[in-house]
Amino acid sequence: MAVSTTPFGRTAAGEPVTAFTLKNESGMSVTVLDYGATVQTLAVPNGAGGFTDVALGYDTVAEYESRDGYLGATIGRVGNRIGGARFSLGGVEYVLAKNDGENHLHGGVRSFDKRMWSCDAREDRLVFSRLSPDGEEGYPGALQVSVTFTLTADNALVIAYDALSDKDTLVNLTNHTYFNLNGGGAVLDHLLQVNAQRFCENDGGCLPTGRLLPVAGTPFDFRAAKPIGRDIGADCEQLRRGGGYDHNFVLSGTDAAVLYSPVSGVEMTVTTDMPGMQVYSANGLSARPGKDGQSMGPRDAVCLETQLFPNGMNCYGFPSPVLRAGKPLHSETAFRFAVR
Ligand code: BGC
Repeated sequence: MAVSTTPFGRTAAGEPVTAFTLKNESGMSVTVLDYGATVQTLAVPNGAGGFTDVALGYDTVAEYESRDGYLGATIGRVGNRIGGARFSLGGVEYVLAKNDGENHLHGGVRSFDKRMWSCDAREDRLVFSRLSPDGEEGYPGALQVSVTFTLTADNALVIAYDALSDKDTLVNLTNHTYFNLNGGGAVLDHLLQVNAQRFCENDGGCLPTGRLLPVAGTPFDFRAAKPIGRDIGADCEQLRRGGGYDHNFVLSGTDAAVLYSPVSGVEMTVTTDMPGMQVYSANGLSARPGKDGQSMGPRDAVCLETQLFPNGMNCYGFPSPVLRAGKPLHSETAFRFAVR
């Protein structure tokens, strides 16, 4: 296992950004930026005996700062949407930024993905930390948070989240990597299997309504592996609302999903302790060049964002995103790669 660091330019405010790379014995590597604790590169062994970079990304900090999509970033404090951009906790009403129509998305305007993190680089892991001050983006409590990226000898990228708040607050952390197991082009031929019997119904703004719908007999049935593109164009109100897949799946266990590309032979297995996973087929990604001229656009990647169900404060019965003062939070998701 080896760690290396490379300067990655500066933010508009002049802060130096560093790219930290972990590489294991088989040559798999991950590069994470201290801007947004962002996965910038994820190079995994492919079926041709080489490596494929399976994460979309940019070459410069300026692109990460100015472009949409949250490519590869750590998302917080609360991933995905909070309806009406407000919530009450302990009898107090908290008002958040409406940065997605009437709703609050991915932690607000200057959320975790747009912040500098400090990095402690150890032998097989990178530990990114920051203190999110009380009131940041409207959330109560000073939150000490760290995200640990570990590369294992058997080619897994493990992302562990730890957080501790001094007041009751909301937390729902995830990573927003756009996976493309061919390194570029459409992912409609990728086979996806998701261990879920139900998914969250969305309203027209991609906000869960609180109803859980069975996947059986719908385009959302990924219980057996099928190409992402097979049903994505089906005549289905839920798909129209998202412009494709942009839904939280209710996971039936810790084996969340398997993604496989018959073209590159790369298989990715996702395991998590989270109860939900957003399957997002990059419907809103603008068409433009990414790193090394890599083309990217709608349907050129799939995000598998492990999480608590979005809008959890407003939907009866959803797992609660409340983190109580002084209670440590720990959560882990692993992305394991193999060749088939
Ligand atoms: C959301 C999408 C949103 C995207 C932003 C996803 O997690 O579910 O609705 O457009 O992030 O990149």
